[in-house]
Amino acid sequence: MNELYWAEAAKAIDWIEPYQRVFDPDIGPFGRWFTGGVLNTAANCLDRHVEAGAGERVALIWDSAMEGRVAQFTYRVLRDRVAKLAGAMAARGVVKGDRVVIYMPMVPEAAIAMLACARLGAVHSVVFGGFAAPELAARIDAAAPKLVIAASCGLEPGRVIAYKPILDAALDLAAHRPEACLIFQREALRAELLAGRDEDFSAAEAAGIAHDPVPVAATDPLYVLYTSGTTGKPKGIVRDNGGHAVALAHSVPLIFDVRPGPGAASEVMWTASDVGWVVGHTYIVYAPLLAGVTSVMYEGKPVGTPDAGAFWRVCAQHKVKTLFTAPTALRAIKQQDPTGALIGAHDLSRLEALFLAGERCDPPTATWIAGLLGKPVIDNWWQTETGWPISARFRGTGLTPFKPGSGGRACPGFDVQALDPQGDLMPAGEVGALAIRLPLPPGCAPTLWNDDAGYRRAYLEAFPGWYRTGDAGAVDAEGDIWVMGRTDDIINVAGHRLSTGAMEEVLAAHPDVAECAVIGRHDDIKGEIPFGLVVLKSGVERDEAVIAAELVALVRERIGPVAAFKTAVIVQRLPKTRSGKILRATMKQMANGMNPVVPPTIEDASVLEAIAGKF
Ligand code: COA
Ligand code: AMP
Repeated sequence: MNELYWAEAAKAIDWIEPYQRVFDPDIGPFGRWFTGGVLNTAANCLDRHVEAGAGERVALIWDSAMEGRVAQFTYRVLRDRVAKLAGAMAARGVVKGDRVVIYMPMVPEAAIAMLACARLGAVHSVVFGGFAAPELAARIDAAAPKLVIAASCGLEPGRVIAYKPILDAALDLAAHRPEACLIFQREALRAELLAGRDEDFSAAEAAGIAHDPVPVAATDPLYVLYTSGTTGKPKGIVRDNGGHAVALAHSVPLIFDVRPGPGAASEVMWTASDVGWVVGHTYIVYAPLLAGVTSVMYEGKPVGTPDAGAFWRVCAQHKVKTLFTAPTALRAIKQQDPTGALIGAHDLSRLEALFLAGERCDPPTATWIAGLLGKPVIDNWWQTETGWPISARFRGTGLTPFKPGSGGRACPGFDVQALDPQGDLMPAGEVGALAIRLPLPPGCAPTLWNDDAGYRRAYLEAFPGWYRTGDAGAVDAEGDIWVMGRTDDIINVAGHRLSTGAMEEVLAAHPDVAECAVIGRHDDIKGEIPFGLVVLKSGVERDEAVIAAELVALVRERIGPVAAFKTAVIVQRLPKTRSGKILRATMKQMANGMNPVVPPTIEDASVLEAIAGKF
């Protein structure tokens, strides 16, 4: 760990009170960064750029392929809107440390709401729009928010998703009651407001009295973001203010080489993700603004809005310098435009590099797009927990060689190694459990929401002195990191992290189901999709197709459409070991057309033959 390095990086941030120690190893599960420091993240994102004379620089370009509309927000306009919304929130009792749940689609008001929380020192918990009411309810109960900020609807291709009824259902399910809900009304579908609880977001913002940034400790939480864990219960990943601001501001010139200025001009970065995911928190909202550059926020899909040229249209129209997306989006584009004809139809002369994350980028996709674009393709590996890339290639200091399938080299502060089950280093190039030597650098989650012990259990106990990533992979002799897949039951569906355990809990709740297993199966576009195998209770004689359809509907209703759970098959028995452990890994190999490794402890090998035809 290099404290001098991070002390230097911390100069990019405006501190209200200087920190006393760069790193204090004695607090929390592994220590805390910039203890004693006081700052405000929103002021670092907005006010200081305005005060430095860059108020007329464009901070955010909103491009909605769904509405066919573009809107631009200068740093001054964004600061003023955030300050007024913060005032409106304060008038409703929100103070430093309070939580605010945000359930919104890709509209600028989502970013404004996040930044208004940061301005007040309130902790936001953004919930992705593709989650259903029970998942939203669980996050409301976990955060116990004073306020919920939601939109009336989201726009998906061919349909309008009414968010407000999902919020109403979630609040019926949740034990916690927020004091108020601010509802952003979209023209596509206005929501009915519940008297005494719901208020119009825009009216509240307009009446808000601009609120000054509230000083917070570097170690105070900025946000909590729930992500799938190994159990059905999601983990509340905590982000602090100080380490986060330092790491993110540092990462923009280093990894992306996107820079502000001169004057009101700026280079433009576009992250085609969603504010509901960590990539969206970091590279749509906080990092570009901390660095003072222009960020594009896109509401639309890579294909179908209106075609597979949508990404290239946005890049050309807004003079994007770096595009960041998930490999799944490229596979969707490749399927519809395999020769890249639509790439050639747009002026991409300003685009300098393509960044990919969320899942491993398969080499055929990486080489396909690198060949067509003729620009560097940079796979970068990260997790909700780390908040910024663990590994990447660095445009700011010169790119290391392109190795399709590799996630690049460790970012500053991350000492990544592959370990064997005893915690010893694997030889270069050999696959083991990927772990990061403690302490984690600034920006990484210091703890879980109200759960230091859970953090230690989940990440620190497996290999003392190391953070266990949950990914398997290798580090080659040149230091490039190859991430091969998860070591637990998390699957990656279209770049979204999902727990098969959570889906199994839903299936098991169906009255006809005796036991079940959910495994990840290869999908050409989404990478992986969930596949359910279900054993019915004895005596159930209902039509199997009807039960399977009910199970699909149940996962959509309880977890949400984002789970992409479309297949449940009924089987007589599940393969198990003699001690009763379901052989999920063996079934996963079968489902993916591989020769299954059958453990000698299998209880009854004939069960495998019986299910073989089901995949
Ligand atoms: N609100 C409500 N519903 C949503 C939603 C949202 N914000 N986002 C997705 N959904 C719904 C979709 O409409 C779809 O519903 P359906 O089952 O009725 O079709 C379902 O959730 C699954 O969505 P998705 O996984 O996005 O699949 P898709 O088939 O609509 O699109 C891709 C496939 C590859 C184009 C799309 O997944 C994509 O763009 N992925 C990029 C992933 C990404 O940005 N990841 C972030 C990490 S960097
Ligand atoms: P999330 O927390 O949603 O960002 O998901 C994190 C997980 O996604 C990681 O643990 C990896 O399994 C996977 N992941 C993210 N980025 C990459 C990448 N570039 N290469 C391989 N796997 C990745």
